[in-house]
Amino acid sequence: MSMDDVIEECKLFYFAGQETTSNTLSWTMVLLAQHQNWQSRAREEVLSIFGNNKPDFDSLNRLKVVTIILYEVLRLYPPGTILTRSTEKETKLGNLTLPAGVELAMPTILVHHDPEFWGDDAKDFKPERFAEGVSKVTKNQVSYFPFGWAIQPLSGDHV
Ligand code: HEM
Repeated sequence: MSMDDVIEECKLFYFAGQETTSNTLSWTMVLLAQHQNWQSRAREEVLSIFGNNKPDFDSLNRLKVVTIILYEVLRLYPPGTILTRSTEKETKLGNLTLPAGVELAMPTILVHHDPEFWGDDAKDFKPERFAEGVSKVTKNQVSYFPFGWAIQPLSGDHV
């Protein structure tokens, strides 16, 4: 890679990584201020796993309550509200045949709020809906994609 390529990659990480992360953390603060029972549960979990120790990757993986809180924040307030794709060649999508050059927009935020996928409480903050993992709550449908989507299906809790 040239020095220019490296600089461009750094800029991409800055733009793609900065606002997404800060928005997620801001909404997490707002929702935990509104739902103090979840704030207490998260605090208890963090204290029981880390105590006075510095966080490390293994311990971060053991944060179950914090994880389902973050899943639910990213469901209600996905920083990337729309996902776009374009067809390079004629493409079949369900019953549709799309010619080359079509721009597709998947409105992440509408799918994440759709009662058809999430139930009548779709607009409510309920981290417990993720208690058994993403694939369970979505019934393996593509109804949760805060980080976008690739061809492979969701496995376990990885999103
Ligand atoms: C809560 C945090 C984040 C969220 C919700 C998020 C969400 C997304 C979404 C929705 C996309 C579009 C994916 C697609 O079109 O399929 C994306 C792409 C991308 N994100 Fe993030 N992101 C987050 C954090 C970060 C961070 C921290 C970095 C880097 C340090 C990053 C780097 C990128 C890059 C480089 C792409 C473009 C990938 C490509 O087009 O090949 N993101 N992100």
